[in-house]
Amino acid sequence: MTDPAALRAPDTPELTPRLFFALVPDAPARSRLEALARALASETGGRAPPGPNLHLTLAFLGQVPRSRVNDIESIGERAAAAGASFDVVLDTVGHFRDARVAWAGPSIVVAPLQCAYDDLRDALAAAGLPHERRKFHPHVTLVRHCRRAPAPRAWPGASWRADELTLMASESHDGGPRYRTTARWPLSVG
Ligand code: 2AM
Repeated sequence: MTDPAALRAPDTPELTPRLFFALVPDAPARSRLEALARALASETGGRAPPGPNLHLTLAFLGQVPRSRVNDIESIGERAAAAGASFDVVLDTVGHFRDARVAWAGPSIVVAPLQCAYDDLRDALAAAGLPHERRKFHPHVTLVRHCRRAPAPRAWPGASWRADELTLMASESHDGGPRYRTTARWPLSVG
């Protein structure tokens, strides 16, 4: 599924909005994450993003020339076609102190998740597109602008079947960024 008008409108500037590839939780996982985000926001004095923004980023591209959108979509399509669906199991709550972000993540990075990250990074690098060079630290950001670190907590976790890869665009709004799906492809094997 793509929304071509969103990224190729002829009378828009040269650059796309900020783009990223992500896995989006299903509705039950999202409500668990939203509940945790609310609790963490009140504990840390930070701000929870709107529920529809919750996602696990696989590759962040930022703004790119619109002429590269076809290449980016081909990369997404190929990566999804080569990837199997798998369970994303988030069972850990953590905090990036410098970024003042609280998050939920997996305690174990399962092979299909790591492969999805590696495949996208390698394809983006080969195409001369922005790509991550750091070690993959999968997480769903739950609170931004934390004033305090969250205390260690037990959390029953959230999981969902990742069965599609999503390309998202970040749009600025008064209340903060909102993320919009611009294309998605099924993870077809498995
Ligand atoms: P974060 O949740 O840890 O901030 C959209 O901004 C998504 O891309 C977020 O999930 C964000 O991660 C991720 N991302 C990765 N690198 C980024 C960067 N350099 N700037 C902004 N977002 C980035």
